[in-house]
Amino acid sequence: MEQSILLAATVAASALALHGYFSRRSSLPLPPGPRRLPIIGNLLDIPKVYPWIKYSEWAKKYGDVISLSVFGHTMIILNTHEAIKNVVLARSTKFSGRPHVQYADMADWSTSNLSVMSATREWADRYRIMNNYFRPKAIQRYRQVQTEKLVSMMKRVIKDPNNVQNDTRKYAAAFIMDVVYGFDVETGSQHLVQINEDFQKYSYLLLPGALIVNSLPILGRLPPWMLGHEFATLVEKGREAWRRVREDPFNWVKAGIKGGTAKESLVRTSLADLAEGDANAERVISDAFGNVFSAGVDTSYGTIRNALLQMALQPSIQVKAQEELDRVVGSERLPNFDDRANLPYIQAILMEALRWEPLIPLGIPHKTEEDVFLDDFYIPKGAMVIGNTGAILTDPARYPDPGAFKPERHLSADGQVVDDPLIDYAFGFGTRRCPGRHFFDMTTWLYLATILTFFNITKAKDENGNEIPVEVKYDGALAFGHAPLPFSCAAVPRDLARLERLLQQY
Ligand code: HEM
Repeated sequence: MEQSILLAATVAASALALHGYFSRRSSLPLPPGPRRLPIIGNLLDIPKVYPWIKYSEWAKKYGDVISLSVFGHTMIILNTHEAIKNVVLARSTKFSGRPHVQYADMADWSTSNLSVMSATREWADRYRIMNNYFRPKAIQRYRQVQTEKLVSMMKRVIKDPNNVQNDTRKYAAAFIMDVVYGFDVETGSQHLVQINEDFQKYSYLLLPGALIVNSLPILGRLPPWMLGHEFATLVEKGREAWRRVREDPFNWVKAGIKGGTAKESLVRTSLADLAEGDANAERVISDAFGNVFSAGVDTSYGTIRNALLQMALQPSIQVKAQEELDRVVGSERLPNFDDRANLPYIQAILMEALRWEPLIPLGIPHKTEEDVFLDDFYIPKGAMVIGNTGAILTDPARYPDPGAFKPERHLSADGQVVDDPLIDYAFGFGTRRCPGRHFFDMTTWLYLATILTFFNITKAKDENGNEIPVEVKYDGALAFGHAPLPFSCAAVPRDLARLERLLQQY
């Protein structure tokens, strides 16, 4: 008897819960947003350039959390720190997916490229490897390699001062490729360096709206050639470019292990623990490090260029940085991480380089893994969820005069760094947060400290000795991140003879 009462009570409770579930789902609206047209929804409202500025304008009208629709797919834009905290961070795993991108499926990226992989076990296997080798404690082992790369960088810049900007890409690639593959960009085959640059030409195709198949995935069921020769080529070349990023440097290490020439590297270490012929485990390793290679170079490069641009434009910032560096480091040795606590102004420059014109202003979209019910609205399973980092980091209420590059805003009255967790939004949020953020921090902080200790970043001069104006230009299209378009600047040694003497010791 007791059992049947219990059973009846359970059935009644479940029925009530189900009723509650469905009635809540149907009674709660989506977050507010601009009016939609039939079928295409807001397709025509979303600008191709500077979309994050439009989203923050809409936020003023509709609220921090807005919804849009494109061909029936819901997009949710979270425009403030509070919105991200209350909606996502309170229940991160529900937001841990990545939206389906038809191009990525067609070009075979969806099962190996973390920026489009669903939150599956396969994703977790790859993410774990990255996290393991790129967490704060692990990266300390790469300091010696970083010093070598900074010394090579300075030698190159002394020879070609006007190339300092492009050279930051070589420095970022040199550091990653040595740590990950034991590969030396100065002496090794340039083919392996080039494959990453080639791949970057296709990565913009993941952006919402970049291709019609991404908005209307049903078109992807057609053979690529039916969507035009140009599209079929993009699929084929994109597939090959990503395969080479994953496989070519990895196979180069394997061949080196076999021939006894492989230098110490993360790939070599990871392979050492594997049983011979474990093809699946090998694939996980080559994918994980292919992601490091493809995601780590241009991001560091873009942000360092933000800082160089401002150094060339605002000599007064550089003067302050150099006063600090001269006091703490001097000119007889290279700066190192033990100096960091005593170099708050350098830290402030780095924070401002991440905040001012943030490199990835809309992050990488997340996807809801299930329906999410909030007080006033619900977000359906499968919705694309975007954090508007661009709006958060340029919010005038938090960062007065946000368009101005001012390191001082990150310092207290007594010159100490003011902790600002919002800067971390540059690296996303929740379970998919950038696993390379500590490595980026290492790569960039020591670069800035080093270049500013030994060089003045100035305007470049033309062949007649006239200064070339520094142009601040962004295209706002997000195709290769929101990095500055190429500008002219030079790095002039502050004391060439002394620097050359110092570099001879390395
Ligand atoms: C300025 C430097 C960098 C910025 C601004 C940046 C930013 C981001 C952002 C916004 C995301 C998406 C996070 C999210 O979904 O919420 C991301 C993901 C990722 N980043 Fe970075 N990143 C940088 C450097 C790096 C570096 C140096 C590496 C590698 C060493 C790296 C590897 C990755 C990977 C693999 C993902 C995908 C993670 C996943 O979806 O599971 N990033 N990054």
